[in-house]
Amino acid sequence: MAGSKEIPRQQRKPTHLVLFPCPLQGHITPMLQLATILHSKGFSITIVHTHFNSPKPSNHPSFNFEPISDGLSAEQAQKDDIMSLVALLNINCHSPFSDLMARMLSKEDPCDQIACIVSDALMHFTQSVADQLKIPRIILRTSSATSFVTCAAFPLLREKGYLPIQDPQSETPVSELPPLRIKDLPIFSTDNSDTLYQLVAHMNNETRNSSGLIYNSFDHIEETALAKIRQDFPIPFFPIGPLHKYSSGSSSSLLAHDQSCMIWLDKQAAGSVIYVSFGSLASMEKKEVEEIAWGLANSGQPFLWVVRSGLVHGSVRAEMPDGFEEETRGRGLVVKWAPQQEVLAHPSVGCFWTHNGWNSTVESICEGVPMLCWPFFGDQKVNARLVSHVLKVGVQLENGLERGKIEWAIRRLMVEKEGEEMRKRIRKLKEKADCCLRKGGSSYESIDRLVNCILSL
Ligand code: UDX
Repeated sequence: MAGSKEIPRQQRKPTHLVLFPCPLQGHITPMLQLATILHSKGFSITIVHTHFNSPKPSNHPSFNFEPISDGLSAEQAQKDDIMSLVALLNINCHSPFSDLMARMLSKEDPCDQIACIVSDALMHFTQSVADQLKIPRIILRTSSATSFVTCAAFPLLREKGYLPIQDPQSETPVSELPPLRIKDLPIFSTDNSDTLYQLVAHMNNETRNSSGLIYNSFDHIEETALAKIRQDFPIPFFPIGPLHKYSSGSSSSLLAHDQSCMIWLDKQAAGSVIYVSFGSLASMEKKEVEEIAWGLANSGQPFLWVVRSGLVHGSVRAEMPDGFEEETRGRGLVVKWAPQQEVLAHPSVGCFWTHNGWNSTVESICEGVPMLCWPFFGDQKVNARLVSHVLKVGVQLENGLERGKIEWAIRRLMVEKEGEEMRKRIRKLKEKADCCLRKGGSSYESIDRLVNCILSL
């Protein structure tokens, strides 16, 4: 145990980091990207992971992997209710994680002692384990700073009567959080709101108790939100994004990337292709798939569409409507999972129809690709508003999917002057992202500060 060591912790140089991602694709990828950065700075890395959605250790030979029990039944692991799943993981993983950490501390190599735990903000229980074992904990928040500011305002939003949401389609502005409307608030569904409020409250409290907060973001895209967090959370703060520029997401992908789409992209005209993907969790009705299919077909543009298993509620495979394949042959490609970062960087891609998961949003900005925004739940709604109304680099589709509206939105982005202006704006943001990563840039400096902070803990 920690108490049996001969030399007091403070006198040793801590070089070992224990990273614990939340086991969802959009959270595993940025955590492993962070691990790559910290490893390059001389830290040794242990990734603690659940059996559910386990990353592939063989893809990361430089890291040590430690599995723990998640206690999830097959049925619980299949559920669409992400908030309940995360709440359950916070309960089920407590003892296994605590036991593992105690074991690791008892066997600690004096030359490679544990400096701190870096855990996903959603895995808030890790703070109590860290406190108990007297190890510092730093948090990685994988979603946007803007959504965090919104979540931190939940008590106020409840007091003012915005929450619980009465009408999920309400366009009433939330005057305390411009330019959000009630329909943009980061709820998942109205029937699990108590689980969400509790999770957010735990996350916020444990953020205050942590030793630092890491963000996959940078000032030029979230200046206001990042400033607000700096002001409201008096803990060391490290906006170090865009994380995917340090290492690609392919080694942390839970699904195999279909590389054949890259050859297909090579044959398309520059800036002509609409890339369509709604991330790893979103699901929709069969009717919506039909509207997307005909919206894409009628747009006349080439498209690359990711239709992953489970995209349609209750079915493993999404059927395309009759006549769609004939109509779009040679012009459209449907794949199960794409190498998204490579796709967005390809010169033939002109627009990204996205659900605005934060990773997808950042990846699109960093390749200068304007977005057609169709958020499903949670932070995606806040991110879509940020993209369309603050950064003005995308168009948001609203009030139901309908082929005519889709066709018009694509036209706005790909053909109209409005789209050209968005393209110019997002290219400037891409340049700013590149600058942040160079020596002297804000993210470069934040990484240096993070390393020094860990070494001084
Ligand atoms: C989830 C939440 O939905 C999101 O709102 C939150 O911000 C992070 O966690 P997810 O829905 O999967 O994530 O979306 P996103 O954050 O965009 O992450 C998806 C990742 O999968 C991206 O890194 C993307 O590059 C990758 N991806 C997606 C692929 O590699 N191939 C694909 O075909 C689609």
